[in-house]
Amino acid sequence: MAGFGAVASRVYGFFTRNSRTTRSVVDHAGLEAGDRVLDVGCGAGSGVAYAAERTRASSVAAVDPSPTFVEMVRRRVPEADVRVAGAEELPFDDGSFTVIWSVASMHHWDDRDRGLADLVRTLAPGGRLLIAEKALKRPGHGITEQQARAVTALLKRLGQVEVRTVGKRVGALRLTIIESTRPGDAGDGAAAAAPDGPTAD
Ligand SMILES: C[S@@+](CC[C@H](N)C(=O)[O-])C[C@H]1O[C@@H](n2cnc3c(N)ncnc32)[C@H](O)[C@@H]1O
Repeated sequence: MAGFGAVASRVYGFFTRNSRTTRSVVDHAGLEAGDRVLDVGCGAGSGVAYAAERTRASSVAAVDPSPTFVEMVRRRVPEADVRVAGAEELPFDDGSFTVIWSVASMHHWDDRDRGLADLVRTLAPGGRLLIAEKALKRPGHGITEQQARAVTALLKRLGQVEVRTVGKRVGALRLTIIESTRPGDAGDGAAAAAPDGPTAD
């Protein structure tokens, strides 16, 4: 489990405390009262703070491998359940969350496939997963179209339905959001055949 070191966490946290990108992903998630949300790779906590304003705060959880970020977010949103952990080994029971998102974090994970499998494990039936990364032409700190296709294929193999890739603009930034849903009941399986090419938002 890597994560940012203490100095990098402080510097990054200073610049991203109120990330417009993260807030736009939380808006995109369309949270409702009663949602139990998890932010994976929460950084300085913009998503956690914003979600706590929009839902009952007891329903907001977050993980980050950086203890510096975790301390920062615990101070910022004391009601949230914030833990030191990586996506690959989430310290939560199966089916704990109705909405999980991860913003600009997946490209840092030690093991993307294991991380995605653990996110799916902790989703409740009918729960939604949003993976957001900067859209790139070449591999780097974000996601290319080819990498997005590999992620959608993996999510389908993990049993996720309604898997689709959405392009979203936030200022000058082009964001790719990969959305998917955990089947709620037997009837939802039909949605697995939905197209997964990029769509405009
Ligand atoms: C570019 S920052 C994004 C932070 C935050 N999501 C935001 O949008 O401001 C990437 C974050 O991913 C975290 N990270 C690195 N490895 C991780 C892993 N294996 N699992 C979860 N998060 C990880 C880092 O510690 C860092 O907080």
